[in-house]
Amino acid sequence: MGARGCQCGFMIHGLAATGRKAGKCDTMADKSTELMHEGLVIKDPTKLRLKPNLQNFEQLRQSFEWSDADKDVEWFPGGKINAAHNAIDRHAKGARKDKVALVYDDGEGRVQKFTFQQLYEETNRFANVLKKLGIMRQDRVFVFLQRSPEAYVAFLGTIKYGAIASPMFPAFGPDAIRDRLGDSEAVALVTDKELKKRFYEVKSQLPALKHLIVVDEEDPPAGEISWKKEMAEASASFETVPMDPEEFQFMLYTSGTTGKPKGVVHAHKGIVQQHLTTKWVLDVHEEDVYWCTADLGWVTGVVYGVLGPWSNGATQVGLSGRFDPERWYRTVQNHKVSVWYTAPTAVRTLMAKGDDMPKKYDLSSLRALYSVGEPLNPEGVKWALDVFDSKPFHDTWWQTETGSILITNFPEMPIKPGSMGKPMPGIEAVIVDETGKVLPQGEEGNLAIRPGWPSMMRQIWKNPAKYNEYFRHGWYYTGDTAQIDKDGYFWYVGRADDVIKTAGERVGPFEVESALIEHPAVAEAGVIGKPDELRGNIIKAFIVLTPGYTESDQLKTDIQKFVKSKLAGHAYPREIDVVKTLPKTRSGKIMRRLLRARELGLPIGDTSTLED
Ligand code: WTA
Repeated sequence: MGARGCQCGFMIHGLAATGRKAGKCDTMADKSTELMHEGLVIKDPTKLRLKPNLQNFEQLRQSFEWSDADKDVEWFPGGKINAAHNAIDRHAKGARKDKVALVYDDGEGRVQKFTFQQLYEETNRFANVLKKLGIMRQDRVFVFLQRSPEAYVAFLGTIKYGAIASPMFPAFGPDAIRDRLGDSEAVALVTDKELKKRFYEVKSQLPALKHLIVVDEEDPPAGEISWKKEMAEASASFETVPMDPEEFQFMLYTSGTTGKPKGVVHAHKGIVQQHLTTKWVLDVHEEDVYWCTADLGWVTGVVYGVLGPWSNGATQVGLSGRFDPERWYRTVQNHKVSVWYTAPTAVRTLMAKGDDMPKKYDLSSLRALYSVGEPLNPEGVKWALDVFDSKPFHDTWWQTETGSILITNFPEMPIKPGSMGKPMPGIEAVIVDETGKVLPQGEEGNLAIRPGWPSMMRQIWKNPAKYNEYFRHGWYYTGDTAQIDKDGYFWYVGRADDVIKTAGERVGPFEVESALIEHPAVAEAGVIGKPDELRGNIIKAFIVLTPGYTESDQLKTDIQKFVKSKLAGHAYPREIDVVKTLPKTRSGKIMRRLLRARELGLPIGDTSTLED
């Protein structure tokens, strides 16, 4: 079947041209999933608004060396570097001095703009505040804020000072905060009046934490530091600290199958790849207005909502507040967003709101769309073709641990809706079995990467054993399963472990189980991800009640509230089943695999280690 052209710049190749909707783009495919794997969104280069930064992708994959990318960022003498210098200072000292770096929209109609020069001065001030407090190089400074100008300034000011910045998702409750600040032995926390209450609940368990900086407290109580006062007194001049490329830049706690969240540590050298992927994948150009919807508490918010775009000198939008379809469309319209990076759950939610809502807004500024965090349904890619005037979503794949996008759909490349695309130049990605044998095309197995890319995590904080678990047989095992098709496109299959992705956010079952059993009514708990059309997965808990408690809707609601208040607003079980016993191994480990199989009606598999 040949490709059929249209005026929109994109064509669906090899699909029955049934037309999803009359009028707009008559090559639009139907939603038949059987046809999906053969479908291809082909881009006509002459119709793209801007020439993609990356040309000759296949050729570059053969010739590219990481040292080529080093030239794109600025270094200090002696091979030193600082990610924040690249994100802010170099633009403030150059032609982009007065260019708007941040368009901050508080979601209520108030907009503030900051130039690179202004961010330079603000981050300098914050670095001077850290200096005054006696913070040492590589100390941990946590940022626990709603999205706000202060959050960006605290994060980058910490990095330029040479301390390790760590953002925390504002939905986290006291237990989640304690685990992160405690494990990292953080010395300072930047927060606000509202969020600090959760910190105070666990303060006594955090002896290392010496400084509490509160951004909106004019006259803070004893023991707290006023952001406003200190920033007003601090000098706007600061010499950004030249760091060894291997010194740490930021750390983020993320969830695995077992144990508490682990501190994934990233080095300053990562900026090389964070810069390059923003340029080549997100294809940010000088004239773009870029918007990444991820919260700064997650790796996407940090890497592609701060570091990568600013390293490329982009103007970016920061929107505060919860996800709301109308507000999002309005944001694109009002700020003339041209490059948009979001997540599949958001795409599915927008889709569910129907095609009439976007028609109320002028979305003509959009020219490139991207998604990350969970599988992007083929329907999402094609819905965008229809609704956003022929622009498809480009799926991108990466992880907190990888530090930047590794597998992706590039602007110049044809898209196979449903596929994650192909590896970045410089990235060797394969499918391997448990013994490290590379599997042939079409076979499902572990997605693995050859270690050594610049933005790879450098450490799991103070836990070398956990770090080493990732590396086997000369490969970095991602924990995902996938397959590669005959054209070299990667297709996501699932997680090889019990990690849950709910609405794109990563949750460890152990953390939820630990919070559940703290409730007096819960004797035992097993937690799984249950597939959900909108959220990808929801968290589902199976609990055994403490003798004396009886199952009721009220009790389940109580338990949900309890987990929300202790752990996090987003990481509570939306479904709870009360059971008599949980399947366990003879050593007492809950077999989540069996809970999942039972829930989804899947084959139960090997039960030889089962208790009874
Ligand atoms: C999942 C987010 C399918 C995957 C940047 C991975 C994806 C985990 C995709 C990392 C994608 C990320 N398609 N699944 N395009 N991108 N994932 O650490 O399971 O929050 O291992 O990093 O998200 O989640 P994390």
